[in-house]
Amino acid sequence: MREGSILVTGGAGYIGSHAVLALLDAGWRVVVIDNLVTGFDWAVDSRATLVKGAIEDDALVRATMRDHDVRAVMHFAGSVVVPESVSDPLKYYRNNTAASRSLIESAVVCGVKHFIFSSTAATYGTPEIVPVAEDSPQVPINPYGMSKLMTETMLRDVAAAHRFNYCALRYFNVAGADPQGRSGQSTAGATHLIKIAVEAATGKRDHVSVFGTDYDTRDGTGVRDYIHVSDLAAAHVHALDLLMARPTESHRMNCGYGRGYSVLEVLDAVDRVTNRKLDRRMGPRRAGDPGELVADNSRILATLPWRPQRDDLDLIVSDALAWERKLSERDG
Ligand code: UFG
Repeated sequence: MREGSILVTGGAGYIGSHAVLALLDAGWRVVVIDNLVTGFDWAVDSRATLVKGAIEDDALVRATMRDHDVRAVMHFAGSVVVPESVSDPLKYYRNNTAASRSLIESAVVCGVKHFIFSSTAATYGTPEIVPVAEDSPQVPINPYGMSKLMTETMLRDVAAAHRFNYCALRYFNVAGADPQGRSGQSTAGATHLIKIAVEAATGKRDHVSVFGTDYDTRDGTGVRDYIHVSDLAAAHVHALDLLMARPTESHRMNCGYGRGYSVLEVLDAVDRVTNRKLDRRMGPRRAGDPGELVADNSRILATLPWRPQRDDLDLIVSDALAWERKLSERDG
């Protein structure tokens, strides 16, 4: 067991719960703060300590940092639905930007020197050059992306002013579930393609809508870089090691596999894995969707010893499907 512990905010949520597993499997002690608004207490591995509360509750956060000898923060807590951020921007500037400001301040006050931030490809907006590299212009096209970019900016400025370093990991399209079946995407009201497709494959929906068939892509449907959530979680553990080994350096890295699949290719993969045919309904574009978003992942590959273990669309789909079946059994 390593010295001290890692504070994971949002550790009861989809990506956070996988990061908790990766940290525990790597021998870290973990304390989670989660308000359980979209997360689930059962998603937190029993080896971790769960503190129920808000990251903007300074007294709670600081007591947790001190009581658990916290050495680093992994910050996942926040709101993540892009269209909701357009209709209710202040929710995103509160839950993502303002709450992060409180959390960062607590880290500085408590002498927690390392911070890993869950950022997003949405900070790039509609990139002009794909694959998109980290030094591309960050011009978000929705409040979700802007709320995350503002947090990246705060971290940059805080790292320049204090003994503090950070790594902003910019996620592309996260999907799949823990291969051992310990966690997965569980929040209701999914908007993400692979989650929707496995819901359809398990009879929870009768079809999948294809949002747009006239993009300038190989088959006209949107292309994305899907990354397995367990590979993403592993990247966080490597980033933590780097921040601790080189405390004067901060980093911003894309997290993706560096190649894209179209909506139709994803649905083909679901059909292959289930050996059935999903009902696909071609429809208009969804507002605000870029045609193609693929990571240039050369920086993360050059900087971290991270190497993807589950870079295979069928594997991502089959892990997502296994978790969806597990949820169906649980909910009867
Ligand atoms: N899509 C469909 N039908 C659906 C759902 C999605 O055709 O029912 C399409 C979308 O139009 C898009 C692709 O599938 O082309 C992927 O869509 P998702 O909703 O799964 O994911 P997004 O690419 O829209 O969103 C992801 C992250 C966000 C992040 C964004 C950056 O989930 O957090 O990338 O652009 F902000």
